[in-house]
Amino acid sequence: MKKDKKELKKYALITGGSRGIGSAICIQLAKDTDYQILINYKGNIDAANRTLEQVIAAGGKGELLQFDVADENDVKTTLDTWHDSHKDAIVEVVVNNAGITKDGLFMWMKNEDWTNVINTSLHGFFNVTNHLIQKLLVHRYGRIINMVSVSGLKGTPGQTNYSAAKGAVIGATKALAQEVAKRNITVNAVAPGFIKTDMTSELDEKELKKLIPANRFGEAEEVAHVVSFLASKKASYITGEVININGGIYS
Ligand SMILES: NC(=O)c1ccc[n+]([C@@H]2O[C@H](COP(=O)([O-])OP(=O)(O)OC[C@H]3O[C@@H](n4cnc5c(N)ncnc54)[C@H](OP(=O)(O)O)[C@@H]3O)[C@@H](O)[C@H]2O)c1
Repeated sequence: MKKDKKELKKYALITGGSRGIGSAICIQLAKDTDYQILINYKGNIDAANRTLEQVIAAGGKGELLQFDVADENDVKTTLDTWHDSHKDAIVEVVVNNAGITKDGLFMWMKNEDWTNVINTSLHGFFNVTNHLIQKLLVHRYGRIINMVSVSGLKGTPGQTNYSAAKGAVIGATKALAQEVAKRNITVNAVAPGFIKTDMTSELDEKELKKLIPANRFGEAEEVAHVVSFLASKKASYITGEVININGGIYS
C-alpha cells in the first residue's frame, strides 16, 4: 500500500555535524524547522553530544549517527541500519558539510593528502547523496546542500587538493540540480570564506582580515542561516546555485 507522505517522520542529516559550521547548522535547523536532526560525526563523540544537547536546548530532537563519509561501505551500512530501525522516516534535507584540509604546496603534496581531501569532500558527497537520492526521488521533495568554499571557485595556493575537491562538488551540484529539479528536489552549494572554526584556528586572523572587505572572519552561525534558508520551502525556486558567504573577498 502506498504510504501517505504525512505519515513520514522528517529528518535532516548534517555530515560533520559535531563541530564548527556543521554543529551550527544542526542547532539552527532545530530552531527554525520541525526536522529531527541527524548529527553525523567521524570520531569526536563528545563534540557530537554537545551539539545534540544544544539541539535539544533549542527545542529540537536529534540523534547521533557515526560514520566516515569517505568510506562507502560505512555510509551504506550505517544508513541502511538506520533506515531499518526508522521505517517511517525520510531524510528530506541532506547537508554535505564534512570536510578536511591538508594544505601544502602542490610540488610537495603527498598522494595521501590529495586523496584524503578528495575522498572526504567529493566522494563523501557521492557516498551520502547517492545512497539517499532514490528515496528523495520517490518522495518527490528534498533539499541537498553542499558545503564548498571560496577555494573551489577561485582556487587557493597551498590548497590545490582542497580547491579541486570543492570545485568538483560545485560541478556536481549544478549537474545534479538539473537532474532532479522536476521532483522538487533542490541542490545548492554554500561557499564560505574564512569562518571561525577548528579548521581555521591556526590561521593568523589579524593578518588575513586585511584581505577581507568586512574586516573580520565570519561566524559559523552566519553560514548556518544561509543553509537554513536553502533548506526551507522559501527557497523552492533556487537550485544549482552557489551562495557565497565571505565578507566580500570574492564575488
Ligand atoms: N571554516 C572555514 O573557514 C571554511 C571555509 C570554507 C569552507 N569550509 C567547509 O565547511 C565545512 C565545515 O568546516 P568546519 O570549519 O566547520 O570544519 P571543522 O571545524 O574542522 O569540523 C569538521 C567536521 O567534519 C567532520 N568530519 C571530518 N571528516 C569526516 C569524515 N570523513 N566523515 C564524517 N565527518 C567528518 C568532523 O567530525 P569529528 O568532529 O568527528 O572529527 C567535524 O564535525 C567543510 O566542508 C569545510 O571544507 C570551511
